[in-house]
Amino acid sequence: MKIQRLGLLALVCAAFAGPAAAQFQTPDSAIRYRQGAFQVLATHFARVAFMAQGITPFDAKAAAENADLISSLAALPFTAFVPGSDKGLPNRTKAEIWKDPVKFKAASDRMITEAAKLSAAAKSGNFDLVKTASGSVAHACKACHDDFRGERRE
Ligand code: HEC
Repeated sequence: MKIQRLGLLALVCAAFAGPAAAQFQTPDSAIRYRQGAFQVLATHFARVAFMAQGITPFDAKAAAENADLISSLAALPFTAFVPGSDKGLPNRTKAEIWKDPVKFKAASDRMITEAAKLSAAAKSGNFDLVKTASGSVAHACKACHDDFRGERRE
């Protein structure tokens, strides 16, 4: 039992060491990683956005927890757009990501900044601030998708 736990810990540590250094064994592992990171972000963002839009009741504590997660994780997908990871597992990257890395970085920085603002807004517990900040995050997601996310390639 104890040894199994240590084994798991080692695995988790290895998983964290990789992305932090933006190192992936294969293009497929980078694709899987960034898509997984986006899925996690989207799940937590939906929880806040639904509250912001009045679809679910506003729960200040839940909003703060989810916004905090979004802010902490916001940078992760962008460590995994490594050169050569346009091909492999099915994905929706556009060539512009690697042709115009400055613009792509600006779009990712914008989202990271807006996510930090959303986290600060959610900590205040003020619904109107959360609503505004949530809208800004959504715009940052969409702006990048419009420019850099295309049709799914198998
Ligand atoms: C700087 C660019 C950029 C920003 C900002 C961005 N995305 Fe994306 N997103 C992409 C790209 C490019 C893909 C396609 C990645 C792929 O297919 O490998 C993608 C894919 C996704 C996917 C699909 C993942 C899958 O399983 O295929 C989801 C969900 C997603 N994004 C949600 C979001 C949300 C939510 C935000 C804002 C909080 C966001 N994205 C911000 C560029 C961005």
